[in-house]
Amino acid sequence: MGNIGNIVVLGAQWGDEGKGKVVDLFSEKFSIVARYQGGHNAGHTVFIGPRKFVLKLIPSGILRPGIRAVIGNGVVIDPAALIEEMEKLEQAGIDVRAQLAISDRAHVIFPFHRIVEKMSEGRQDRVPIGTTSRGIGPCYEDKIGRRGIRIADLYEHDSFCAMYTALAEDKQLLAQTFDIQETIDYELIRDQYLGFAERLRPLVCDTAQLLNDAIRAGQRVLFEGAQGTMLDVDHGTYPFVTSSSATAGGACTGAGVPPTAIHGIIGVSKAYTTRVGSGPFPTELLGDDGERIRKAGNEFGAVTGRPRRCGWFDVPLLRYTAMINGFTSLVITKLDVLDQFDEILVCTGYKNVTAMPATFRGLEAVEPVYEKLPGWKSETRGLSRERDLPPRARDYLHFLSERVGVEIGCISTGPERDETILIENSRLAGLL
Ligand code: GDP
Ligand code: IMO
Ligand code: MG
Repeated sequence: MGNIGNIVVLGAQWGDEGKGKVVDLFSEKFSIVARYQGGHNAGHTVFIGPRKFVLKLIPSGILRPGIRAVIGNGVVIDPAALIEEMEKLEQAGIDVRAQLAISDRAHVIFPFHRIVEKMSEGRQDRVPIGTTSRGIGPCYEDKIGRRGIRIADLYEHDSFCAMYTALAEDKQLLAQTFDIQETIDYELIRDQYLGFAERLRPLVCDTAQLLNDAIRAGQRVLFEGAQGTMLDVDHGTYPFVTSSSATAGGACTGAGVPPTAIHGIIGVSKAYTTRVGSGPFPTELLGDDGERIRKAGNEFGAVTGRPRRCGWFDVPLLRYTAMINGFTSLVITKLDVLDQFDEILVCTGYKNVTAMPATFRGLEAVEPVYEKLPGWKSETRGLSRERDLPPRARDYLHFLSERVGVEIGCISTGPERDETILIENSRLAGLL
């Protein structure tokens, strides 16, 4: 295609696939980077030379001067977290106020959402999800329950105060019912939020209009997914999921652009698998190999610091996420983490199971079937040319691509921008 078209870059597993690095790298070729779901539960790490950034709510495109960064209507916003993130970036010399646009339709997270989450996670007769405790789920509950408060509401003083009081009273009742002792100064919070709203006011707009106008004017948009497909509220490992549409389809509803405006869907996957929080994970390694991957890949949560659960690459999972999203290309990250393994296992199927089970119990019960591939036992870290890849690493990647049925258009060999191999003549290279 060459320099036309808008793309979605999203996680093909359970999150932390390296989306931040990939979006930062690809964003050079785009005018706008837009987030369409999730909130500050996301942690997208980007290294630019010695500087490390962990982006939570703000799209990774903000790190490139001149690029518009859009927080779409499908995102849930904790204004205190947003302002803190903006200030950090400003201190690093980024012109956030010139680059950032915030949807007037995005829903607002309040401190009482975190209390509701605590109640839900603490309930004895329910398995905790192991959430990031950011109030994400309860905010989306209020959104779907049609009692939520959106950014635009913050600017209609009287109606905001009435909506806020009703919502706060609901939560107080809930807290009383469940005997939660946490005290919240509801009036103080209301006034704080009115203050946050004033600080954000110049950045708030109808971002769906902004995006559609830009696309019509020939500007290119990269939609940045948060979380991963298996954490999607509909298609993931329910109930061990996040509360939004993390799949490619979410880009349309969460940004307000039509499906016809999207021309490429790029799935990001590690060369192995990780997951944070509870829930089924067929290829999880509980022994030494898991620990080795965790150490080599520094697999600790970017938001909560929790150790990530680690396991082998799961082909059935990728085939499923490729189907749900319609991946046009894959980016395989963290290849270098497997450099020192004598042999590498790949789950190529689940015994006697052909479709993704609907329930988490079903997925917990599957028996992965593994194929063993020889390791390459040499450094791929930092490689930037395909021809420099050790033959066995190349075979490994070829194997993954063949089995998943999607081209690998790009390989990441380290956290830095230049530690990347873009495959010439790939469909992906044509889109960038
Ligand atoms: P995201 O949430 O999908 O953006 O991913 P995270 O930032 O949570 O986690 C990915 C981690 O892996 C980050 O610390 C990245 O700096 C790092 N990373 C990304 N790509 C590579 C890679 O190819 N090799 C290595 N060793 N680290 C990588
Ligand atoms: P990025 O964008 C990995 C997980 C949590 C928990 C579940 C629900 O960095 O890939 P939530 O707080 O969203 O209600 O928690 O989802 N989770 C993530 N895991 N990466 C993320 O984001 C995640 N965001 C949420 O650990 O299991
Ligand atoms: Mg992350």
